[in-house]
Amino acid sequence: MKTLKPIFDAIETSAHRIREAITNEDLCYSEACNATGDMQLKLDIQSDLIIAEEFSKITAIKEIASEEKEESETLHEEGRYCIAYDPLDGSSLIDVDLSVGTIYGIYDREFQPQNMIAAVYVVHGPRLEMVTAYKGGVRHFIYRHGQFMEQETVSLNEKGKLNAPGGTQQYWPTHHKKLIDGLFAEGYRLRYSGGMVPDLHQILLKGGGLFSYPGTTDKPDGKLRKLFEVYPFAFVYETAGGEAIDDKGRRLLETRCDDPHETTPCFFGSKYEISKVKEAYGIG
Ligand code: F6P
Repeated sequence: MKTLKPIFDAIETSAHRIREAITNEDLCYSEACNATGDMQLKLDIQSDLIIAEEFSKITAIKEIASEEKEESETLHEEGRYCIAYDPLDGSSLIDVDLSVGTIYGIYDREFQPQNMIAAVYVVHGPRLEMVTAYKGGVRHFIYRHGQFMEQETVSLNEKGKLNAPGGTQQYWPTHHKKLIDGLFAEGYRLRYSGGMVPDLHQILLKGGGLFSYPGTTDKPDGKLRKLFEVYPFAFVYETAGGEAIDDKGRRLLETRCDDPHETTPCFFGSKYEISKVKEAYGIG
């Protein structure tokens, strides 16, 4: 397999350009909605354009799929890698100056989780940070003095302390509410900003916990998109020694994706919390 270095470099360049845009550009909503029906901020569209422009320079990239676009796009017929990305996840949080992020899943030839070879996310918070999962290791970088400086290798403990429960509580199934209440009763602390990137980043860097987005009565298949949000984080969490499953107890990375915008209930955590999910859901 060829090195992914040019792809990682393009992700870094895009991170700087998006950071610039967040700092300096107009935030207002465009007239458009994306493929999932979310209102698009001008910044969502701009971030998407930046990434597509940087990736189009790399001949090893065959196809790209963006959360902001209905269909995937072929860049280089002879290329090998397929990259799915969410240019600015949680972008509405920029309105209130909370952290947002960019998520990438890199696949060998086909957009199926079994073909994923690397995942990367960038956090646009008070600092610019990047996490890569590749070749069995999760690496954490902080942007300082003009470059991304590598920090300690990241790994999850067997059991954590944080609980990030997504979705509207009023629509949670009873067994899910029991799971979440049970974790709080054990002393878990609530940490939920409404941005998947910073919420999962916090759990990852603070040793563990649970991030959940269940199937609800209003959204039976959950809200989070397999290709743009769920698979990359499943890859990161598994590589860091944690687990990532759906509400049937299947490893998310063993499921299939038949539509780029398909969603799934999802649970990411360290081993202990995932065992609690399985117990509450009666799935193993
Ligand atoms: O998919 C966008 C997103 O903003 C994620 O980043 C976040 O985890 C989720 O939606 C929050 O959804 P909710 O407000 O329903 O918990």
